Amino acid sequence: MAVALFGFGPVAAAQTLVLALVLATLTVGTHPTSAEGSGSTLIVDKAHVGEPLDAIGGLSGGGATSRLLIDYKEPQRSQILDYLFKPNFGASLHLLKVEIGGDSQSTDGTEPSHMHSKDDLDYKRGYEWWLMTEAKKRNPNIKLYGLAWAYPGWVGNGTSSPFSYPNLTADYISKWLQGAKSVYGLDVDYIGIWNERSSDATYVKTLRRTLDDAGFKHTQIVAKDGGADICNTLAKDKSYADAVSVIGLHYPSDFSDYSQCYALNKPLWASEESSSYDDLNGAACWARVITSHWALSRMTASIMWNLVGAYYHGTNWYASSMMTAVQPWSGHYWVSPVVWATAHVTQFTRPGWLYLNDSYGSGSLPNGGYYATLVDPNSSDFTITVVKIDHDHAPCTRPALPPFDVHAETVTFKLAPSMGGSSVPALAVWYSNFQNETQGIFKRLSDVHVGTDGTFSVHVPVGAMYTISTIRDGPQKGSHGPPPPSAPSFPLPYADAFDEVAESQEGKYLADQIGAFEVHADAQGNKVLRQMVPELPIGWSDHGSNGPVTVIGMREWQDVFVQVKVRLSSNITAHDPAACVAARVDQMWDRGIVFCVYASGNYTLSIGGPKQSNGQPADVVSQGQLPTPIHRDHWHTISITCVNSSASGMFDSGFAFRDVAVPALDTGFAAIGTNGWFAVEYDALSISEAGHWVPPAPKCANPKRGDKLGARPCATNGFNTTDQLFTLRADWTLVHDPTGLCAQAAGTGGGAAVALAACDPSNPMQQFKNDYTRVRNTEMPVFLDGQNPVSAALTGTLAGGVSVGGNGDWATWSYFPNTHQLRNQYTAKTNLGFPMCLTVMC
Ligand SMILES: *[C@@H]1O[C@H](CO)[C@@H](O)[C@H](O)[C@H]1NC(C)=O
Ligand SMILES: *[C@@H]1O[C@H](CO)[C@@H](O)[C@H](O)[C@H]1NC(C)=O
Ligand SMILES: *[C@@H]1O[C@H](CO)[C@@H](O)[C@H](O)[C@H]1NC(C)=O
Ligand SMILES: *[C@@H]1O[C@H](CO)[C@@H](O)[C@H](O)[C@H]1NC(C)=O
Ligand SMILES: *[C@@H]1O[C@H](CO)[C@@H](O)[C@H](O)[C@H]1NC(C)=O
Ligand SMILES: *[C@@H]1O[C@H](CO)[C@@H](O)[C@H](O)[C@H]1NC(C)=O
Ligand SMILES: *[C@@H]1O[C@H](CO)[C@@H](O)[C@H](O)[C@H]1NC(C)=O
Ligand SMILES: *[C@@H]1O[C@H](CO)[C@@H](O)[C@H](O)[C@H]1NC(C)=O
Ligand SMILES: *[C@@H]1O[C@H](CO)[C@@H](O)[C@H](O)[C@H]1NC(C)=O
Repeated sequence: MAVALFGFGPVAAAQTLVLALVLATLTVGTHPTSAEGSGSTLIVDKAHVGEPLDAIGGLSGGGATSRLLIDYKEPQRSQILDYLFKPNFGASLHLLKVEIGGDSQSTDGTEPSHMHSKDDLDYKRGYEWWLMTEAKKRNPNIKLYGLAWAYPGWVGNGTSSPFSYPNLTADYISKWLQGAKSVYGLDVDYIGIWNERSSDATYVKTLRRTLDDAGFKHTQIVAKDGGADICNTLAKDKSYADAVSVIGLHYPSDFSDYSQCYALNKPLWASEESSSYDDLNGAACWARVITSHWALSRMTASIMWNLVGAYYHGTNWYASSMMTAVQPWSGHYWVSPVVWATAHVTQFTRPGWLYLNDSYGSGSLPNGGYYATLVDPNSSDFTITVVKIDHDHAPCTRPALPPFDVHAETVTFKLAPSMGGSSVPALAVWYSNFQNETQGIFKRLSDVHVGTDGTFSVHVPVGAMYTISTIRDGPQKGSHGPPPPSAPSFPLPYADAFDEVAESQEGKYLADQIGAFEVHADAQGNKVLRQMVPELPIGWSDHGSNGPVTVIGMREWQDVFVQVKVRLSSNITAHDPAACVAARVDQMWDRGIVFCVYASGNYTLSIGGPKQSNGQPADVVSQGQLPTPIHRDHWHTISITCVNSSASGMFDSGFAFRDVAVPALDTGFAAIGTNGWFAVEYDALSISEAGHWVPPAPKCANPKRGDKLGARPCATNGFNTTDQLFTLRADWTLVHDPTGLCAQAAGTGGGAAVALAACDPSNPMQQFKNDYTRVRNTEMPVFLDGQNPVSAALTGTLAGGVSVGGNGDWATWSYFPNTHQLRNQYTAKTNLGFPMCLTVMC
């Protein structure tokens, strides 16, 4: 066996230094030993081809995940698109899947439908058309895939189901494809049914026939973007199965039995995958599944939810994305390691390349991890990817993984004569380590040379992802240089009269949550923002417990003044329609300080928005009559001012209420909304600081080693203070940003103190494990690794103490990425009062 450990072959002089460094990094102390095993030889043989690769893709939507991207200025907006779509540059995606807007909340917001009602049709709404066009511009071969999360109510014709009138729904979907083709010149390759909801045989057959008749024979149906139970259903109904081209599973486990699916003889996809935060752990999760899904489950596509985290923190699943772009005002964005995990496959393959079968180029590594080989059917090119992630770093958000062990090893591949054997020229080698950033991310190493017996070896440490390929020219770690610096605070004062917004688009920076708010010119030619959804949609998640609302700003805001002009048209026939303005709201305005004015001349001040059930808020703080009459078809100006525990509301030039006591524990977005499905109009939105905004003094002016951690009220209004700035790192350390010191526990439980210490990720007392995705979206335990999460959780008391275990008032935390605060609540918890933050005390 001629072992050509990469780097031991001849190398170009220029690469020698890099190579020496790499070798020093990767092989010191890790030469193959019997303990870690040298493994057996893995045969790579083109005589055993399996299925074609369909795609490594990204998903925009499900929902509103790309919302803030379109509001970026150039050149940053194009740069972000390059990192996602440009071949041989970044993620270089093979496929873009988008939501077909359905007028309803679909996770991070609402995406508008192209048909709010039966007779309505507008192909200028939203950003998915634009995104598909930009993707195609960069890569004409990129595949497109559309899927509905929700449907406008009319599609159900009164039944709340998209399947009761199959022709209506099929025509509605066909109209979307027609818009893509006729307005944007886009051919959509795949179309889905109803995300993570039921499917229906009659509907799917009707859809197939409708698409064929409308000239969309090439558009393939994916069923059903959910569980594998669809395979059993299709196995029993041949005509249903015949209408379906692809089986799309969500978050499939690689440890399930898919024989029923294989029997259908259709491509099997992970048509939604990951949902994991875009740090190194998210990259490790994704690197692993895009290799294991073929190696273990014969799946031929993996599509990441989601494409780009361009939705505010405070809406669901912050930055569970390939990259993050949440600051359109500063232009700052983050190219995450997930982009480079993707590049490991996408830049070295194309859809249509063929996977090699288990044991002939794909499978499990002897000491844990996976490998998969793709071959070009039209040339002698091939690409092998290898990945080895340990159990601690492997999990995506779902499903849970069974226990497993991985160890570093040297892996030897043997190229069969079908692959060219020893005549294969040097192979390009690209390397990342997603468990240890210092080893590099998507970096080209020196070539590996194939020995006379067709073998070559690579050393695979834990955390590694390798690409070994005949494709030597083209792939690159593209860069547009550093983006503008981060400015996480939404800039105030802010004002928008919507006159610069394109027709049919959402208001700039506004993120619709319930209902769809669009800019249109009114009869006078003035551009106004109008709520457009006329009836309860066939929803996906919460589709209307509260009235329509759109939010803007920061989850941390507390003391703000929000003003907007509102108009209630005389054509609104509802009982007592309202226009509302709010501060401190959470995503669905379940909490927050809300001022609504009603057509009747009444007003309410409430905690949370009005309910759709009766048009009134449930938790009213104050109500009464407006100081002056309200007129239909006339503009009125309404505002709310919240400072600490008091709120004031104005209607035109008079106070509706003044300095009314409100709870001070809510922080959140500014919002405008209404109490039902009608076309309330808004103009001249403005937001500014209320009260006296000064950053609070830190508890500890010069934090240092040995200082204890405690808790105190969080800095408000998007301010941060040096004693409350922490980063949750992917290696499970909890780092105090200003000092670079780490939280270290004095013991494993029972109330052990936590203090700042020099960082040492190998010290178990510094391993504060957490669900790295959910901790940013809700309250989760943060606990000493290897310990029981309950008894070893970071625990806080209202008196300001923090310890490991012990009796506390809370043992779960939520991380606020904009202010780097570790808070004791995500949405207001009345039993805890004002949010408390992890703080260095001294
Ligand atoms: C990361 O890799 C470097 C270089 O190989 C090594 O020195 C360091 O110990 C590693 N860190 C961890 C946490 O494994
Ligand atoms: C590849 O594997 C599949 C599934 O095990 C098998 O049906 C097929 O015959 C194999 N193909 C070749 C060429 O070995
Ligand atoms: C909607 O339902 C009504 C009955 O409730 C029916 O008469 C009508 O034909 C349906 N519309 C369509 C387009 O199928
Ligand atoms: C659905 O459309 C097809 C084709 O236009 C038509 O033959 C069929 O009668 C329609 N079904 C219903 C229930 O309207
Ligand atoms: C292989 O070549 C055929 C014929 O030119 C072409 O249709 C097909 O797309 C090619 N496949 C790939 C994966 O490039
Ligand atoms: C009601 O008025 C609004 C705003 O002027 C307008 O957009 C909408 O089309 C009207 N609706 C009807 C049913 O006339
Ligand atoms: C307006 O408020 C008054 C006093 O609270 C109440 O009696 C009346 O029913 C309200 N009007 C409407 C239309 O709800
Ligand atoms: C809120 O109240 C605190 C303490 O009473 C005070 O220090 C602070 O300045 C107030 N905030 C604002 C914005 O007025
Ligand atoms: C902290 O506040 C400073 C000063 O306002 C700001 O420049 C910085 O971006 C903030 N950092 C974070 C993480 O919020």
